[in-house]
Amino acid sequence: MNEKLGLDKSATEAVAGKLGKLLADLHIVYGHLHALHWNIEGKQFFGVHRELQSMYENLAEQIDEVAERMLILGHRPATTFKEYLATSSLEELPSRKYSAEETAKLVLQDLAHLIKELRALIETAGEHNDEASADLGVEMLGEFEKQNWFWSAFSA
Ligand SMILES: [Fe+2]
Repeated sequence: MNEKLGLDKSATEAVAGKLGKLLADLHIVYGHLHALHWNIEGKQFFGVHRELQSMYENLAEQIDEVAERMLILGHRPATTFKEYLATSSLEELPSRKYSAEETAKLVLQDLAHLIKELRALIETAGEHNDEASADLGVEMLGEFEKQNWFWSAFSA
């Protein structure tokens, strides 16, 4: 039991486990966004290049929030890509040319994956009365759902 937080050990372990999985996924997606930001080619270069930058800048802040929430719960976040790759089910993207259409498809796949992970985090945090972790998840979920709308509209 963490007396100061009023959360028992099984709660902090369950939620930190979900946060650790999310942290790994976010790092892999961070790499994807750079692969696409740097390698997008075609007539839609300017808009897509800029949008991807805004996404990875937001993601850097979200990564920090997730890792710090783990520390608040008494768990150390992983810091190596070796650990992130072992934890995440996502594969890295190679550095090669990407079209705007392929970029949109890949980003939408990542967003769907993250949205699913966030719903699992929110559910686990809710079951264990960890409102602050649930709140962090809800805020990120809203942002990713909005990005899902942007990229779906782009692809329509
Ligand atoms: Fe850049």
